Amino acid sequence: MVKKSFIEFSKPLVVIGILVWLGFAALGVMFMPEETGEIREMFAFSQIIPILVAAFYFGQAGGLLTAFLASMVSGSLVIANIEDIDSIFVQRVMFQIISFNSVALLTSFLSDQAKVHRKRLSQQVERLGALRAIDKAIISGGELNATLYILLESLTRLLDVEASAIFLFDPKTDQLKLSASLGFYGEYPNQTMFRLGEGMVGKAAHELQTIYLHDFEQVDRRISPAIKGTGVIDYFAVPLYANDSLRGVLEVFDRSPRFDSEWKSYLETLAGQAAIAIAQSTLLGNLKEANEELSEAYEETLKGWSRALNLRDKETDNHTQRVVELSVQLAERMGLRGEQLVHFERGAILHDIGKMGIPNEILLKPGKLSEEEWVVMRKHPLYAQMLISPIRYLEPALVIPLYHHERWDGGGYPFGLHGTEIPLEARVFAIIDVWDALRSDRPYRKALAEDEALRYIEEHSGKQFDPEVVRAFVEMIKESG
Ligand code: C2E
Ligand code: SIN
Ligand code: SIN
Ligand code: FE
Ligand code: FE
Repeated sequence: MVKKSFIEFSKPLVVIGILVWLGFAALGVMFMPEETGEIREMFAFSQIIPILVAAFYFGQAGGLLTAFLASMVSGSLVIANIEDIDSIFVQRVMFQIISFNSVALLTSFLSDQAKVHRKRLSQQVERLGALRAIDKAIISGGELNATLYILLESLTRLLDVEASAIFLFDPKTDQLKLSASLGFYGEYPNQTMFRLGEGMVGKAAHELQTIYLHDFEQVDRRISPAIKGTGVIDYFAVPLYANDSLRGVLEVFDRSPRFDSEWKSYLETLAGQAAIAIAQSTLLGNLKEANEELSEAYEETLKGWSRALNLRDKETDNHTQRVVELSVQLAERMGLRGEQLVHFERGAILHDIGKMGIPNEILLKPGKLSEEEWVVMRKHPLYAQMLISPIRYLEPALVIPLYHHERWDGGGYPFGLHGTEIPLEARVFAIIDVWDALRSDRPYRKALAEDEALRYIEEHSGKQFDPEVVRAFVEMIKESG
């Protein structure tokens, strides 16, 4: 896959060019008048150019063939002047003929060297490119399997091996499990699971040492029938080790013995990258798991708090659960989406968490509250703020506990906010809270019927509640019958 450089024309074109030049030189040599010896010699000498080109493009054989043709042309000059064989002119031409061959040999040698060098260079560039691509795949934290396949693909192509496979180590079971394979005819046909110490894969993992088998069909009978007959004779099992732990084993099946240190160092580099990719993906996986466990624990904590409050509040009838479900529904109608809804739901669960700070004799009082008792009761949103605001995870949910008693007309508490100064979440939630409170028995009164409660909400549209949200709410209640 050597990139074409600008001096590389198509080969037939080069052949035609060479022949035309030789023909032209021959014509010059043969048909220039006798007395223009110098010019004829120039024509003969000009053949050095096609010889150089031929040697450059076609190596020794091409160069020498062209030199031979050129010598025939120049030779005709010598023959034409054979009676004058001792003249300086003839000697120069004969020297020219000898030089043609040397030039052909030298040029072809240099050009071959350059080609080998160029090939090595472009191979190195390609290998570096592949390493970078793998690094990128690792950094992007994509799916582990995809990264491993990118790795095996580069390895198979750039190291020119027959087949390769990666086994992942599971420290819980001490087993190595086939995770990606490439270059086998069909599935990896062999055993796909090894215990530590078992087989070549298990041995490489156990001893943390690369195992190299030459002519491995003789050595390891287990090697599958699918490999046999492909001419594979060399085998590597490279342990993958990163961040102080075994991550897996890389297997490489090769057609020819490898003594090239560059090849081996590339193999080691790829093995290192594989180990890092696996380590990182394990790390990310563990992190994600821990994170999920943590947020599950949080959600459970929230529900626990709210149950504790309900218990104290003598609410045995799932007020919170109903309020949460209904208010999330209304929030969706009002256009809240995704994360917003998640925070909304948490806020709804916790809306009265501040009542934890209200003494029983006020919270559970069977009759109307006195003025002093009201002063205390109105603090429950601020108690919620004290409780919740230090918890970063819950901060976005605070708007409901803090503002659910604000009123559209500014007559609410704790801040007396007006209209849209009140966060939408709280405007939505307030309607559902009052709706459900009115429909429930309280120590100080009996539950209201549905049409009475609905009338209350509609009558307080634009006073206690945001009229737009009331419209959406009424629509929602009517739709659900
Ligand atoms: P809550 O019982 O969950 O009531 C939530 C909100 O629903 C109340 O906020 C109020 O806006 C509405 N609401 C509930 N019951 C009624 C009602 O019978 N009539 C009317 N018009 N609206 C009602 P508010 O008023 O800020 O009260 C906050 C909390 O204070 C109440 O939560 C309840 O725990 C307590 N509370 C309110 N009034 C009394 C009372 O007369 N006696 C006692 N013991 N507690 C009360
Ligand atoms: C607050 O956000 O904590 C109070 C400020 C306000 O709503 O006026
Ligand atoms: C309660 O009624 O005590 C808690 C629920 C609410 O205020 O809506
Ligand atoms: Fe409340
Ligand atoms: Fe409530």
